[in-house]
Amino acid sequence: MRGCIICLALTSTVFGQQTPPSSATGGASVTLRQAAAPRMLIGTAVSSRSAANPKLASLIAEQFDCLTAENEMKPVSLQSMQGSFSFERAARIVAFAKAHNMQVIGHNLCWHSQAPRWLFQDGDGQPLPREAALANLKAHIEAVVKHFKGKVKGWDVVNEAVNDGPSPYLRDTPARRAIGDDFVVKAFEFAHQADSDVELYYNDYNIEQGGKRERALHLIRQIKAAGARIDAVGIQGHWQLESPAVAEIERGIRAFAGEGLKVMITELDVDVLPRGRGFGADVNATERQGSDPYRAGLPEAVQKKLADRYGALFSMFMQHPEVTRVTFWGVTDGDSWLNGFPVRGRTNYPLLFDRQMRPKPAFDAVIKALQSNKP
Ligand code: XIL
Repeated sequence: MRGCIICLALTSTVFGQQTPPSSATGGASVTLRQAAAPRMLIGTAVSSRSAANPKLASLIAEQFDCLTAENEMKPVSLQSMQGSFSFERAARIVAFAKAHNMQVIGHNLCWHSQAPRWLFQDGDGQPLPREAALANLKAHIEAVVKHFKGKVKGWDVVNEAVNDGPSPYLRDTPARRAIGDDFVVKAFEFAHQADSDVELYYNDYNIEQGGKRERALHLIRQIKAAGARIDAVGIQGHWQLESPAVAEIERGIRAFAGEGLKVMITELDVDVLPRGRGFGADVNATERQGSDPYRAGLPEAVQKKLADRYGALFSMFMQHPEVTRVTFWGVTDGDSWLNGFPVRGRTNYPLLFDRQMRPKPAFDAVIKALQSNKP
């Protein structure tokens, strides 16, 4: 199978060339990337297997102009064993993006989840001495950022360092235990040293809201005060039908833009299922049980609510020139991580395309919001 993404890329619909744009969307005349250009990039998370399905590959190529690897550029995917790098799957995503005139976002260089243990811990799970942990972090970032130089537009340098609760202000993680609070600043410095052209982002969930927003602002000011480069804040955007309020999200965008940074919505999806607790997108906060009310299909009324929610979000994004990219966390409802998080095995409907890859009313609402709010 290796290399097949490239063949598919060459045979599937290519945006901007003679082939009609919407084979995969049943004749819809405008695509997301057309409607958004040049105001913002419209991205999606993919895996290296996405292009094995020609219809899905074609849909991705026609609708999006930016890709994020959903899993395959995370530290555990690239360097699960110290010193042994696996770049093949990530390379397929980069090749697909190149063939379809898309940008690639690197996700991510430092996160407490999906990171190999050896980075910051010894064989007994104890924190490594600070200098050893810093050397590992530097070696990983240097190798990865240099490898993707010129291929990736920007990196989520640090993912989810801010604590959900007030104290301590950074999350208790292996990186922080081994290095201290300045592991964040160090990661930004190492990334910039490895490639002074690549954009650098801080990425997290719920940072648009309340106290977590204040802690994220504090962290951003620390990064800037240390003289490190930071270009944008990534607000993940794992949201629900009713919350957070659009006005609250807008306050977050204003706050980060006020720091002189671009703002990117980096992992957008809207969970339509009931939630037990308010843990946002904390990957550790799984639940055993939760109701699964829409197994047989999404009721019309909820479908409409979802469309209205997406329409309101994009109308608001368009008011803020600092919002330069919106990336969805997946393409179709069937492949969304929200079918398995926070409760396994449910039937969720968080994205713009249904399980048959057909555009939903939410797709039309996004197109309309993009078109009617163009500057
Ligand atoms: C998720 C992926 O979607 C899943 O496939 C994987 O099992 C766990 O990670 N915040 C992030 C993303 O920054 O990397 C996470 O992606 C979702 C939450």
